[in-house]
Amino acid sequence: MSSSKTECQFAVRFKGKSALVCGAGGGIGLATANQLLATGIDVALADIKDQPADIANGPGQATYYQGDLSDEAFVSQLAADVAAAQGGIDYLVNTTGVLWFDRDRSVLEMDMDTWDQVFQINLKSFALSVRHVAAHMRARGGGAMVHIASIDALRGDGKPQDAYGAAKAGVIRLSKSLAIQLAPDAIRSNTILPGPVRSPMQARWADDPEALAALSAHIPLGRVGSTEDIAGACLFLLSDAAAFITGTELIVDGGCTARP
Ligand SMILES: NC(=O)c1ccc[n+]([C@@H]2O[C@H](COP(=O)([O-])OP(=O)(O)OC[C@H]3O[C@@H](n4cnc5c(N)ncnc54)[C@H](O)[C@@H]3O)[C@@H](O)[C@H]2O)c1
Repeated sequence: MSSSKTECQFAVRFKGKSALVCGAGGGIGLATANQLLATGIDVALADIKDQPADIANGPGQATYYQGDLSDEAFVSQLAADVAAAQGGIDYLVNTTGVLWFDRDRSVLEMDMDTWDQVFQINLKSFALSVRHVAAHMRARGGGAMVHIASIDALRGDGKPQDAYGAAKAGVIRLSKSLAIQLAPDAIRSNTILPGPVRSPMQARWADDPEALAALSAHIPLGRVGSTEDIAGACLFLLSDAAAFITGTELIVDGGCTARP
């Protein structure tokens, strides 16, 4: 095979497409939206936060939608508005999430209202976006979605965030089910399981040099992840380079889960 053919085969292709990134006001979501904009496609960014200042300036067109992604009325209107504004929706990224160390604890002792809220935001919001975006992908003849879970879904913990971990495990199962249900429509669904990533969610260690160094020493690649690391994996799974990948998980953790 010639090198030019190899380049062509593995090129990441998005041209002329439209994406919706949920949870795009934050670290991983914003980095993913910015990398998608850099490929030239139009990107709708949705989040409950005010619009961030550092949305990339094209070449794709960015539009920011502010609202609660666990509210079905907002999500339904969002999907319709994005499809109308961008001529359809080809790609969906679900990164919306909360990690409440102060309140999300062992299920043996935590307030179950917190459990419900975490599930609403970390799992139901993903289900809602898929419910309202799938028809727009079908209308385009196919599409791809990536859902951000966590390596926390794979193991137990003596000092847990039980709602967070259980909701993230639910994301993995939901994505597999969607992959089967939507395969006949040429829509792919995959999950990324990040390890520790320096983002606003992890301010408790990300902004503390000692804690950051201690955590980095535990990671085989010797550092915590960046939001760009996760965004890059996300673009791969969305792109045509991953055309035969659906219903699976990609662990992006610098080797954390590989070590004993
Ligand atoms: N940072 C890490 O170490 C790490 C590790 C594993 C998984 N993750 C997952 O990656 C995803 C992105 O996290 P991040 O690290 O970029 O953190 P982040 O806090 O920067 O991003 C999460 C975003 O979700 C938004 N959000 C929360 N509730 C919402 C709601 N009801 N409606 C709309 N938007 C809402 C927040 O405003 C925020 O912008 C999350 O699902 C998180 O669980 C992060």
